[in-house]
Amino acid sequence: MNNSRNIILVGFMGTGKTTVGKALAARLQRDFVDMDVELEARVGKAIPRIFAEDGEQAFRRLERALVVELSARSNLVIATGGGIVLNPDNICDFSATGCVICLNAAPDEILRRVAASDHRPLLEQGSKEKRIRDLFRQRRRFYDAIAIQVDTSGKNVDEIIARIQEVIPDS
Ligand code: S3P
Repeated sequence: MNNSRNIILVGFMGTGKTTVGKALAARLQRDFVDMDVELEARVGKAIPRIFAEDGEQAFRRLERALVVELSARSNLVIATGGGIVLNPDNICDFSATGCVICLNAAPDEILRRVAASDHRPLLEQGSKEKRIRDLFRQRRRFYDAIAIQVDTSGKNVDEIIARIQEVIPDS
């Protein structure tokens, strides 16, 4: 891979995009952008407040604008929010200037990882387990459509990074 192309991590909530992205960026000496953190800083509100006060559609529009902006840059490692795959234009734009990698994990492992989280508005209504299983079912086809898949179940960050470097050897 041309080593200035962005590396974009997509995947369901709790698949390790932020943790892995940060470590990968450090390893490759690239700048790291966590889209959720960047959006929160720009809007001046935490994500649950954006969802509660402005609605999910407003959040998706902010995400979309940031995708366009980041796709015009290079040499980044980008951790996306779990819903980025819902708009095919996002994947199209990211793929034009970067390598999109989908991190995945079994729903049981996702549940274990997000069990204590209170900053994910889409998991706040009703049972977290049911929400994860329902959302996972609805979104599975979007994640499955990404050509490069990396399974994170039972792996530590170093093992996941090693796997990513295998699938994009020139990074
Ligand atoms: C979302 C995932 C979250 C965040 C927002 C919506 C989603 O990011 O963008 O709560 O639609 O799956 P993480 O995947 O980092 O939890």
